[in-house]
Amino acid sequence: MSAVHVPVLFKEVMDSFSIFEKREDLVYFDGTFGRGGHAVGVFEKYHPVKMFASDQDLIAVEHAKIHFPQIEITHENFLKFAQNHQNKDTKFDMILLDLGVSSPQLDVAERGFSFNKDGPLDMRMNQKSELTAAKIINEFSSEDLMQIFEEFGEVPNPFHVVKAIVNDRETKPFDATLQLAGLIERVDGWQKKGFHPATQYFMALRLVINQELHVVEQALPLLIQQLSQGGRISVITFHSLEDRLVKNIFKSDQTGFPISKKVIAPSDEECKINPRARSAKLRVFQKGPEPVKPDKFALRRALRNQP
Ligand SMILES: C[S@@+](CC[C@H](N)C(=O)[O-])C[C@H]1O[C@@H](n2cnc3c(N)ncnc32)[C@H](O)[C@@H]1O
Repeated sequence: MSAVHVPVLFKEVMDSFSIFEKREDLVYFDGTFGRGGHAVGVFEKYHPVKMFASDQDLIAVEHAKIHFPQIEITHENFLKFAQNHQNKDTKFDMILLDLGVSSPQLDVAERGFSFNKDGPLDMRMNQKSELTAAKIINEFSSEDLMQIFEEFGEVPNPFHVVKAIVNDRETKPFDATLQLAGLIERVDGWQKKGFHPATQYFMALRLVINQELHVVEQALPLLIQQLSQGGRISVITFHSLEDRLVKNIFKSDQTGFPISKKVIAPSDEECKINPRARSAKLRVFQKGPEPVKPDKFALRRALRNQP
């Protein structure tokens, strides 16, 4: 059992807040606290006077209460946090959302996130919510299963896997991760080296169970409203659908601007040390008007127009 989480894109996240280096009285909100890897970095580098945090995982919150008593952490979804914070005066200078699951969640078989370890078909980040992977696999219609795997897992043709699930569950309900992973392996086979055939199916279930896309879509505009003028929100995603969502919200929100058109990705070196960083992408948004870029051709135009 591992309780260690190596924060991804650590330097890049710290750099995304570098405009606050000489500022005082900063307020920081970490919506996905996990084991506090990024929060510790922010605390050491920018000395925020007030730190708010949320995590929907009870274990992460209990860990934070013991190890970071100075942080005000709540056991809730960051969407709930943003909704509850709407009428409060405190604005945030720095917000971080490091989406997805933590290594402790992935590595502990009992949480049911991993297709490599045998555990219950669970996949809930919040242990108090009701929908589990077992419920979806055993009770949802084949049409719903098809839609989940196609839409959220981007599986090109899940038909044979869905048919096998619906057939097998008649005789024995699914209750274990390896039972499902084994079926997918048997039906789809290994098509890409190093890429377990169950990867996209498990990802789809996880996204649906934890309503991950819906939460980001609803929460981001609220959190942007709660930024101070000049405040920044940095978001790390691990899934193309999620990244597209963040990119579009940042692009269309008129109260600020994305600080770079290009997404920030981990270096090859980071991916080698921490393979879980491989699919990570960072986007940063700043509240307030975009600084006017210097016009590189102004001098040339002025000279050309001289009488
Ligand atoms: C990738 S980890 C964050 C790791 C953290 N940045 C660190 O360095 O330790 C994601 C964490 O966010 C939590 N989480 C994911 N989505 C969430 C949401 N919508 N609301 C609250 N917590 C969430 C998960 O339970 C998990 O603990």
